[in-house]
Amino acid sequence: MNITYQYSRPGYHTGYIDGIDKLSSTLYMIRIRLINDRIYSLPPQFVMIWVPGYEAIPMSIAEQSGDGSRINIIVKPVGETTRALVQMDNEYIGLIGPLGTPLTPRTDKILLIAGGSGIAPLIRYAQYYASLGKKLTLVLGAWSYREIGETLRLTKKYVDKVITACMDKCEAHGLVTDVLSKGYVDENEYDYVIAAGPEAMLKNLAKLIKRPNKTIFIMERHVKCGLGLCGSCIIRGTSKLLCYHGPGFLLSEVEKVIRN
Ligand code: FES
Repeated sequence: MNITYQYSRPGYHTGYIDGIDKLSSTLYMIRIRLINDRIYSLPPQFVMIWVPGYEAIPMSIAEQSGDGSRINIIVKPVGETTRALVQMDNEYIGLIGPLGTPLTPRTDKILLIAGGSGIAPLIRYAQYYASLGKKLTLVLGAWSYREIGETLRLTKKYVDKVITACMDKCEAHGLVTDVLSKGYVDENEYDYVIAAGPEAMLKNLAKLIKRPNKTIFIMERHVKCGLGLCGSCIIRGTSKLLCYHGPGFLLSEVEKVIRN
């Protein structure tokens, strides 16, 4: 996909799902075509996806076409709505977006660290920075290699180097945090670190990171409205709303919350 460097105001859109690929034992990629419409986003912006008969759920944009007519999302079917979504090939959905605030510092060398479905917003970062000719290394972690599956091939489109981390057949045995603590990568060799994954992973990662003002964490909270209205996604201990100010934050902005 080509890329665009602008982002549009949030709007209501109709999308048509014209492809669903199983990427791994736990993840699916859903390809969405906008009907007579466009969404322009920058990482780590997201969309609310309304699945008819179910609810609206926040999903990171994993890839976006340069003309704004298509987005891809990565779904881990864990609840009623996400389980229904991965069965909706050739069906219509509603979208609201793009939501959240872009966070794309000027930088030349970036280390991306993904745990599980945290890979979704990081693929979008990889797509964005690769299009600018930047150097990218990705640490891709999961419990087992089966959970990584085809995401490895997908990410190799954009990144120069991938280090997989899991408990069985990966390059690094252990957690993504072990990749840093055991010296597979050194954060000092990169201008920025961008990480996404489960809160426990981010908490452990925060203990290792030495430059919180050069580190972006993509956070997760309970998103209801997605528009900065209901307050359900507040990052406690700060005045930040994840859906409005985030979902990406400099670690220096949220480190008290993360490190507690
Ligand atoms: S989800 Fe309502 S304010 Fe963020």
